[in-house]
Amino acid sequence: MPRCSNPQTVLPRPTTRPAVVGIEGAIGNTPLVRLDRFLERTDVTLYAKLEYLNPGGSMKDRPAALMLQRALADGRITADTTVIESSSGNMAIGLAQFCRAHDIRFHCVADVRIQPQNLAILRALGAEVDVVTEPDPATGDFLRARLDRVRRFLDEAPDAFWPNQYANPDNPLSHRHGTMREIDEALDGEIDMVFAATSSTGTAGGCADYLREHGRATRVVAVDAVGSVLFGGRLGDRLIPGLGAGTVPPLATEVAFSQVERVTDRGCVAGCRRLVHTEGFLVGGSAGGVLHTIRALSPTMRSGAVVVAVLPDSGTRYLDTVFDDDWVADRLHLSTEQLCDLIFDHRR
Ligand SMILES: Cc1ncc(COP(=O)(O)O)c(C=O)c1O
Repeated sequence: MPRCSNPQTVLPRPTTRPAVVGIEGAIGNTPLVRLDRFLERTDVTLYAKLEYLNPGGSMKDRPAALMLQRALADGRITADTTVIESSSGNMAIGLAQFCRAHDIRFHCVADVRIQPQNLAILRALGAEVDVVTEPDPATGDFLRARLDRVRRFLDEAPDAFWPNQYANPDNPLSHRHGTMREIDEALDGEIDMVFAATSSTGTAGGCADYLREHGRATRVVAVDAVGSVLFGGRLGDRLIPGLGAGTVPPLATEVAFSQVERVTDRGCVAGCRRLVHTEGFLVGGSAGGVLHTIRALSPTMRSGAVVVAVLPDSGTRYLDTVFDDDWVADRLHLSTEQLCDLIFDHRR
């Protein structure tokens, strides 16, 4: 089994990371942590990649930086460029911090469902946030209305740059060269399964690309939301942000995974709550969905299996949803007692 450095002590870790330069230098090399208490089985080893320890608070810092670095390098972004993207969450924050550091204007198209905290973070990072108040009249879809706004902006400002995370190959590339390489190197390539939450499919796709390129037998399990249309799913209501998609993005048409699993909003909450209870880590809703899925599948895993969960963001932006008992009761119709049952018995 791969070795962990000094897991039982609060003394400083034996190796010190070298100094890095600026915000980009602080992205990546996130901790990979062995979780000994989350699963009921002790003969399956679970590791978590803590992506919330990126400077913007999520794994989206990686694709945001790579998409913009490459556009700067080949001249698609110049001193006069405005970067524009439709996002109200982690990608927007990743783009905003990069643009601020490079003195590039960033125009973010969000809609009225944006969380007040994200709006505040984006404004603090200097982004101009354009909040769409009405959905597309024909379909009732906010995403379509936001994309229409982006296209109109691009028509009016020809030197604007749209990273378009849903179609940009630099999105999966950042996880191929970053997230998955770091995991693989830390575990000497001895990994049975990697679980990643999906929306653009950049994370899971980049992991699969790396593993294929290196001839690994590791299975990639895509964890999608019930109610997402990815992988032939049926459109439905879902409340956990970041997980799943309402339309199939171009990147998703180019990927294939060893396995696809779907998780409910309730499952996401249960995974988050159980992780806090057993390990003390506060992670976001999609991370909870990944963990809940691993726990549900753990009885089927071989003895000695090594399993990795990519945990996209922190629970601090979900305090008034996933971690609020009243919200869970009102929106997911789950009492505290039922939630406890779910945390301690995944068959429910
Ligand atoms: C919290 C969270 N989880 C999961 C995802 C899905 O990741 P990807 O777009 O790489 O498929 C996202 C994407 O924005 C996210 O913000």
